[in-house]
Amino acid sequence: MEKRVSKSKHGLRGCVVIPSDKSISHRSVMFTSLAKGKSIINNFSDGADCISTLNLFRQLGINIEYTGEKTLTVNSSGILKYPEQDLNCGNSGTTMRLCSGILASRDFDTVLYGDESLSKRPMKRVIDPLMAMGADIQSNDYKAPLRIKGKNLTGIVYNSPLASAQVKSCILLAGLNADGKTTVTEPYLSRNHTELMLKYMGADIAVNGNSVSISRSKLEPAVIDIAGDISSAAFFIAAGLIVPNSEIILKNVGLNPTRNGIINVVKRMGGNIEILSENTTSGEIVGDIKVHYSELNSCEISGADIPGLIDELPVIALISTQARGRTVIKDAQDLRKKESDRISTVATALKSLGANVEEQSDGFIINGKTNLTGGVELETFHDHRLAMTYYIAGLISKSEILIKDFEWVNTSFPEFETLINKLYS
Ligand code: S3P
Repeated sequence: MEKRVSKSKHGLRGCVVIPSDKSISHRSVMFTSLAKGKSIINNFSDGADCISTLNLFRQLGINIEYTGEKTLTVNSSGILKYPEQDLNCGNSGTTMRLCSGILASRDFDTVLYGDESLSKRPMKRVIDPLMAMGADIQSNDYKAPLRIKGKNLTGIVYNSPLASAQVKSCILLAGLNADGKTTVTEPYLSRNHTELMLKYMGADIAVNGNSVSISRSKLEPAVIDIAGDISSAAFFIAAGLIVPNSEIILKNVGLNPTRNGIINVVKRMGGNIEILSENTTSGEIVGDIKVHYSELNSCEISGADIPGLIDELPVIALISTQARGRTVIKDAQDLRKKESDRISTVATALKSLGANVEEQSDGFIINGKTNLTGGVELETFHDHRLAMTYYIAGLISKSEILIKDFEWVNTSFPEFETLINKLYS
């Protein structure tokens, strides 16, 4: 589906409730499926990625029903069953990488496959540590499909070269059903939803700085209330900051400190952003955010900043085109391994819109402030975050832009455009 977006005339004003967090939604289905008994998941994401996880656990014999519009009831025997068919992870790296950790220790074999984009993404990062634990995984030169033969696993001490929550979670989930203790250390702390939810569900898990240890544990069923996704809120934060005359309140946003890097960066850029309220649900911090059109200055984003805003970098690059001075984004080489090569795709698109962007091997150098000209057609490359970044770019571009295959927003945020339109009424 093609989408035409033209310049916003009056700014975006009002209040939106941000839909469910994708990372937490995946984990809620995976972990409650492993817990014997009845669990309730409130505010489950209706993005295609999380539906892939839901379907996969149904195929593994878990009874999961919608008992409300966004409420799931999970009735599990605590035992996964041999699936008759191969397991389709769709576009979702989280599904494939976390499930490989869960499935490596079962007493049956499985095959995990995905779409064109997922089939190009690196799986060595999870295959190597799982093999070190005793797993048997065959792949297509370390890419999907992954053919996993169930084995008895043994815990390891793993120093991860990457600050990746998918790698960390994969190993911890393997460790949950392995002999002995498993410890993962990462160079910088990545999102910790796995640690928080496993702890909430009674696992034997301990965190020490950037290291986490886990031993074989039985999970207890739980009621999980899922916060709104700060990675979805990011597009509204961007719109609020760069579309003149905007003022937006975002309700029910997850503010986990391992995820809220965009808020810190916006503050460093001098953006007018405020946390209005904060509380804790199911072990996660949740709150409301107010954001206002702002005069922004450049900043540097690097090192330990990166894991806390990795998914927001495409839209942060867009924000930076509207900041005065030289913004440097570095140490983000893993951005090339996402749903698309987001360094190349974002730099190319922003340049075509008239921005002053230099592509670097590990990020971008962006000189602002530039008025975006627009008047171009942009490809989405199966990447939901590109589709939404380009939409926000269209709201400040002089001439209309056309976004191809806009339906990829459905990967994480089917309500995106409806909520944008709400801010116009
Ligand atoms: C995710 C971790 C991140 C992130 C992805 C979701 C997760 O990936 O980019 O969208 O839910 O654990 P990496 O672990 O590859 O950094």
